[in-house]
Order: sequence, then structure tokens, then C-alpha cells
Amino acid sequence: MSEEKKVIHAALLGAGTVGGGVYKLAKKMKKEIPHRIGCELDIKKVLVRDASKSREGIPKEVLTDNWDEILNDKDIQIVIELMGGTGVAKSRILDALSAGKHVVTANKDLLAEHGAQIFAAAKENNCDIQFEAAVAGAIPIIRPLMQNMAGDNITEIMGIVNGTTNYILTKMTEEGVSYQDALIDAQKQGYAESDPSADVDGWDAARKIAIIAQLIYHTNVTFADVYTEGITSVMPDDVRYAGELGYVIKLVGTTKYTDGKVEARVHPLMLTKDHPLASVRNSFNAIFVNGEAMDDAMFMGRGAGSLPTASAVLGDVMDVMRNIILGCCGRVQVENYRDIPVMDIDEIQSKYFIRMKVEDRPGVLAEIAVVLGENEVGIANVAQKDTADGVADLLFIIESVEEAHMVEACEAMRSLDCVYSIASVIRVY
Ligand code: NAP
Ligand code: HSE
Repeated sequence: MSEEKKVIHAALLGAGTVGGGVYKLAKKMKKEIPHRIGCELDIKKVLVRDASKSREGIPKEVLTDNWDEILNDKDIQIVIELMGGTGVAKSRILDALSAGKHVVTANKDLLAEHGAQIFAAAKENNCDIQFEAAVAGAIPIIRPLMQNMAGDNITEIMGIVNGTTNYILTKMTEEGVSYQDALIDAQKQGYAESDPSADVDGWDAARKIAIIAQLIYHTNVTFADVYTEGITSVMPDDVRYAGELGYVIKLVGTTKYTDGKVEARVHPLMLTKDHPLASVRNSFNAIFVNGEAMDDAMFMGRGAGSLPTASAVLGDVMDVMRNIILGCCGRVQVENYRDIPVMDIDEIQSKYFIRMKVEDRPGVLAEIAVVLGENEVGIANVAQKDTADGVADLLFIIESVEEAHMVEACEAMRSLDCVYSIASVIRVY
């Protein structure tokens, strides 16, 4: 820190949706920041691919496409990585940490894959690594989990951590909008990734769940460990029947500790309408946490977008500045001191919703019930719905059972002549 001016210099890597938002917000808050933390923030350099392209609100002279200008600048103490991806971003962050620079990032892809390496490098260099914006944008969840709840054992987290899919499912549920139309709308609103597969196939949510699982269970959980199903198989009939049975369908990420293993999964989930997550609509995100001592808590807010995400990033930057001023950087670290296996999806216990197309004649329900019974699968509720041309929609809510039994039961039911198709199997909370 320059004593006479009381200013801390930082560099932004990336000036896109989030980087541009951070620059704009830091400018707006310029006069406030010294009052709040006793020191000015100067974003001295902004790294981009194309430094000749003008960027709204960012002076040309701070733009650079030369990383060495930042790495070798001793005045720059904080690197704010908002480029995204797992390639260049990873080496820039590792370089910065090796040079003793503190890092703030929103890069969930990187932390969900190489978190252990990055966190170890931060610890080794006694540097801060802060990443509040990597999970659920503006919602404070990383700091609460790492600090406020550090004295508790977190038993379970369930989260709606992808805005695009929540927006699509809300439109399908409340307005009967088709999946395709709702996705186009989400893209127009700027919620979706440029390749929306990351959203609708559940990968974005899985990355966030991998990060959360590491933090609360102190073990290495990566993106590849998270069982992931997206929302592309959720049909309008599922949404309609779920509503009739008193449920809503959400894309939910879950991580919990069961029988010495960590569960980490993302998939559509039917929630009763009175569950706190059921009321989280449109592009909002929410994270429901249960701790042994604290009981239940829920965090809700904007999970994406330029300024909401920038707000979390700037909060992290200011926290690092405080640590620099007080000489206590590296104070809060990710400590993966356990080695807990991740549970296979076949081993989880869940309730299920099954929708199947069956022959509409007496005795069919009995045949199906026998097969379910033979596979130790109990029925909680059954209903026959739309019937046309000798084909009926049969709906079941299945009692909690190990997934392996459910899979075997579905295979056995498919082999019955009276079962034309098993149209959907959705887990129920
Ligand atoms: P973006 O709009 O695509 O912006 C990326 C920026 O990084 C661009 O300015 C680009 O430069 C620069 N960049 C990319 N590769 C570079 C390289 N090799 N060298 C130098 N500059 C490079 O991305 P974004 O939406 O802001 O997302 C940034 C990060 O925030 C990602 O990790 C994302 O997952 C995370 N995040 C985003 C949101 C959101 O709502 N968007 C929410 C939470 C977290 P050019 O402009 O010259 O191409
Ligand atoms: N595409 C993401 C979403 C952006 O829809 O939530 C924030 O990670």
C-alpha cells in the first residue's frame, strides 16, 4: 500500500459482463470505499484479448493484452480474474499467487475442477483467494459457509443455483410456456450461458455444488464427481401433473453427508409447494442450508448478471484490502483435511414420481404393483389420468427407496406387455 496516498492497486483480468460491471461499480463507489475501509482502490490495469477495442466506461490507457505488465508490476497487489475458463485463467491465477498477489475470482468452472490446486497455492503463498461470486452470483453463501458457520457441522445443502433453468421451469409451470420458448426468453434476458447446454444440462449447477461440497465437507469434490441431470427431459405433462399432486419441479443441487459418504448431485426434483425452495421463482437463486447446531437457513437473491455479480466481486476485493491494511492475508483458507468418498447415485435414497403410458384395462395396476413389490419398491400414491384410445397415463409417487431398486423396478416394468413406456422418473423430496 502506498502510505502517503493510502491506495491499493488491483488489476482486472476480463472486461466482459462481470469485469465491465466490476469496473463500473468500483468507479461508482470510489469515494465511498476509503470511508468504509480506510483506503482507496485503484484498478490500474484491465487485461483483455483485444486491447484496441474500446470498452464502455473503461479508459483506453488502462487496457492491456500483456499479462506480464500486470504480473511484474509490484504495485498491483490484487488480481481480479473474470476471464472464465479453465486454461489461461488457471495459469494466470497460479502465476499471481506465486508472485504473492491476492486473487478474487468468479470462475466456478476453474474452482470446480482445479480448486484443490488453486487453494493449496494460495495457502503456500499466504495469499487471499476469494470467490464469493463463483456460486450464486450476488448471494452471500461462500463467506457464511466458510466463516459464519465454521463452528457447525453442515448436514445438508439444497440449492437452486442456476437462474436460466429456474426461469424456464417457472415459465413452464406458471404460464404453460414451452421449454424452447422459455429458453429463448432466458437467452434474451441475458441469463443463459453462450452455450446454454451448461445451464439446461445442469453442468453450471453441478460446478457450484462441487465447490460448496468441498467447503462444507473439507474433502476434494470436483465437477466430475457430481451426478448431473439437466431439465431437457422434463415434459409439460410432468409439470402439469406435479402441480395437480401438490408439487413443483425445480432443478436442485444437493450435497449431504450420509453413511460416511458425500452425496453431490444435480437433477430435477419435485418439491411440495410449501417447501421454502418451491417459492423461488424466475431467475432467482436460493440455497437452503441445514446445520447440526444452527438448524435451517435460506439465502436467496440474484444468481447472475453484470451488477449483481460485480457486487459480490467488489465485496471480496474490499475484504482483501482490509486484510492487506491489517497485515492478515491468508487468514481464511479452504482446508480439505478429509478424504471422504462421493456416494454413487445408485446408493442414494429418494422418493420418486413415475409417469407411464399403460394399456387401459382392468388388472394392469395389479400387474405393475406386483413388479414394484418384487423389487422392494413401495407405493405412496397412485392416480390414473388422461385416457385416450385405450392408453392411460398412470402416475405413482414411490416411497423412499434406494435408487438401485428403483432402476431395477423400472427395467422390470418396461418388460410388461401392458406398459407402453415409462415416460418420466423424477426424484421427489
Ligand atoms: P465474458 O462476458 O465472456 O467476458 C470475458 C472477458 O475476459 C472478456 O473481456 C475477454 O476479453 C476476457 N478474456 C477472455 N479470455 C482472455 C484471455 N485469454 N486473455 C485476456 N482476456 C481474456 O464473461 P463473463 O460473463 O463476464 O464471465 C466471467 C467469469 O465470471 C466467468 O468465470 C463466469 O463463469 C463468471 N460468472 C459470470 C456470471 C454472469 O452472470 N455472467 C455470474 C457468476 C459468475 P475480450 O473482451 O477482449 O474478448
Ligand atoms: N448461466 C448462469 C445462470 C449464470 O443461469 O445461473 C450464473 O452462473
